[in-house]
Amino acid sequence: MTHSFKRTLVTTALPYANGPVHLGHLAGVYLPADIYVRFKRLCGEEIIHIGGSDEHGVPITITADREGITPQDVVDRYHSMNADAFSRCGISFDYYGRTSSARHHQTAREFFTEIEQKGIFVKKTEKLFFDAKAGRFLSDRYVTGTCPICSNTEANGDQCEQCGTHLSPLELIDPKSKLSDATPELRETLHWYFPLGRFQKQLEAYVDGHSEEWRQNVVNYSRTWLNQGLADRAITRDLSWGISLPLDTDEAKGKVLYVWFDAVLGYISFTREWAEKQGSEELWKRYWQDPESRIINFIGKDNVVFHTLMFPAILMAWNEGRSEGLYQLADNVPASEFMNFEGRKFSKSRNYAVYLGEFLDSFPADTLRYSIAMNYPENKDSDFSWSDFQNRTNGELADTLGNFIKRSVDFTNSRFDGEVPCDISPEEWNALGIDWQESFRKLEEAYEGFHFREAATQAMEIARFANRYLTEGEPWKTIKVDRDAAARTMAVSLNLCHTLSLVFYPVIPETCNRIHRMLGFEGTIDDLVAPGSRVWQTAIEPGLKKGHKLLGSSEILFSKIEQADIEPELKKIEALLAEAQRREAVAEQAQIAFKPEISFDDFQKVDLRVARVLECEPVKKASKLLKMKLLVGTEERQVLSGIAQYYSPEEMVGKQVVLVANLADRSIRGELSQGMILAVEGRDGRLFVVEPDGDEIIGNSVQ
Ligand code: MF3
Ligand code: ZN
Repeated sequence: MTHSFKRTLVTTALPYANGPVHLGHLAGVYLPADIYVRFKRLCGEEIIHIGGSDEHGVPITITADREGITPQDVVDRYHSMNADAFSRCGISFDYYGRTSSARHHQTAREFFTEIEQKGIFVKKTEKLFFDAKAGRFLSDRYVTGTCPICSNTEANGDQCEQCGTHLSPLELIDPKSKLSDATPELRETLHWYFPLGRFQKQLEAYVDGHSEEWRQNVVNYSRTWLNQGLADRAITRDLSWGISLPLDTDEAKGKVLYVWFDAVLGYISFTREWAEKQGSEELWKRYWQDPESRIINFIGKDNVVFHTLMFPAILMAWNEGRSEGLYQLADNVPASEFMNFEGRKFSKSRNYAVYLGEFLDSFPADTLRYSIAMNYPENKDSDFSWSDFQNRTNGELADTLGNFIKRSVDFTNSRFDGEVPCDISPEEWNALGIDWQESFRKLEEAYEGFHFREAATQAMEIARFANRYLTEGEPWKTIKVDRDAAARTMAVSLNLCHTLSLVFYPVIPETCNRIHRMLGFEGTIDDLVAPGSRVWQTAIEPGLKKGHKLLGSSEILFSKIEQADIEPELKKIEALLAEAQRREAVAEQAQIAFKPEISFDDFQKVDLRVARVLECEPVKKASKLLKMKLLVGTEERQVLSGIAQYYSPEEMVGKQVVLVANLADRSIRGELSQGMILAVEGRDGRLFVVEPDGDEIIGNSVQ
């Protein structure tokens, strides 16, 4: 555990201001970060949580075009919607910024200028699609066409949704511009590239230096990239929405920074804005430029390499050759897996999601926070379901925690004048039958080590213990025969309430603030947690002394969730699932529909031949593809095929296959493909290679 740091900066991935955040985002990034930050605050440590909206990127302009509004309208809408949802959920940002701010534009330009002046960027001319009708270069997402792998006619320029293959727009058959439907033409354009390879050694050292503490998935993703060798990455785009280049040259005209180059720098800009708000402009440097500070980036697994390679490389480029103003790299990058919902992946494009704001319209934040903490996708994907949410709320929060607190407070109010009736000595406290040292060691380890499910479980264990203690103590009976015994039971119970209000605080802060108030304290726990305050350290002791006055009234902490409350939600899910199935069925239908008639002559044009697979190997960075060397008669051919998910290279070698032998050569992912082999599509898109039977038929025509 790293206790040698003086202060901590926590950042959370900036959600795109292009839609409402959903429960998957909350589970992977924002709730874990908030739990961590609140725990550290309780311990009296100096820590800030910085986040905000990612307001650039092509999807935002696509939304704007679709709705006939400006990109600024889009980001204004979702920035405030998301900031509001987070605040209602108790995500306690110290600052929630936006990348459209002037300060951010300035910071991003500073970085570009610094790296440009050091001559680190590489400029390259490339040919990109240009829509002459619209007068714009087309980013990958603005091009659509037919997928070369699966023939889906609606593949995007960056990826085919149907077969999952990552594409470049140049690979699409029949490319079209989404702006005008025009067939785009190739035009030369100049772009700035960041040479990641220049920092290969430093980045390897960075990842190696943290491989012990970082999560396995984070180390693995990073090493996969490092092992492949880091390539140059374009960091500019021909777009109008974004941060324009700080250069007054013709070549820089009409270009903006690539969204990922600017977004990660948002963490810095927002820390600066936070500092300005504190009235202390230089304060941000204490977090970014002081080696005694620790930086932690909470992210989802899809953002790993941007945070472990790209962002560090940008900072390394800034630091190069400097003796002051050096940036610190993150000390940890806890990346989550994904939380699914009722067994399915959240998908914004398929509208399969539960949005945070809508959820909070129906249920209290803490019930959600607790359920999600218990389903935290730490090392593997997890699942959130309505029935799990209902069971945890009713069985654990209401029946165990809520019930215990209310019984303790109510009985004291009615039978002991709302006062702690006696002192509990440390000896008595330690003899209760719970190993406090062990329990707190586990809690601290869990909170410190980002094991939030474990932390919530441990806290609930204490609540279970407390509930049992009170039930078995039966003060409502003992009070009739032995008032002192009942008094001791209540004094212990109230102290347990106090302990619970603190051990649960990081997970369910609003509830704990209410417990705090019922216990007769002024204000909230939030008010107590200034740096140096060490509130956490009081949780392990019996802190309530004889005569301490409770508030005198109580409230129900959690109302139970009835079947009727979640019925509409289940209906919604049913409808969403039905819709998803309907779409799948339509897609299947579409495949059964026969293609338009062709003449016999047309058919005769296709030269189908039997071939033998001589060699076969995977293709780098194209997990779906296999590259094969085929023998056709006496000729050898190289063919690429999207069957890697279904066949291993070893399995393919020696097979007899059917080759479309007179298909024009194509380049797929930079590799030459001379023809294609036939395969049948089965369920779920699985492919079966057609394997003709027969001896000595290699090279023969199939007719
Ligand atoms: N907007 C990106 C996403 O949602 C995340 C940006 S994280 C940052 O995937 F570091 F770039 F800010
Ligand atoms: Zn495809």
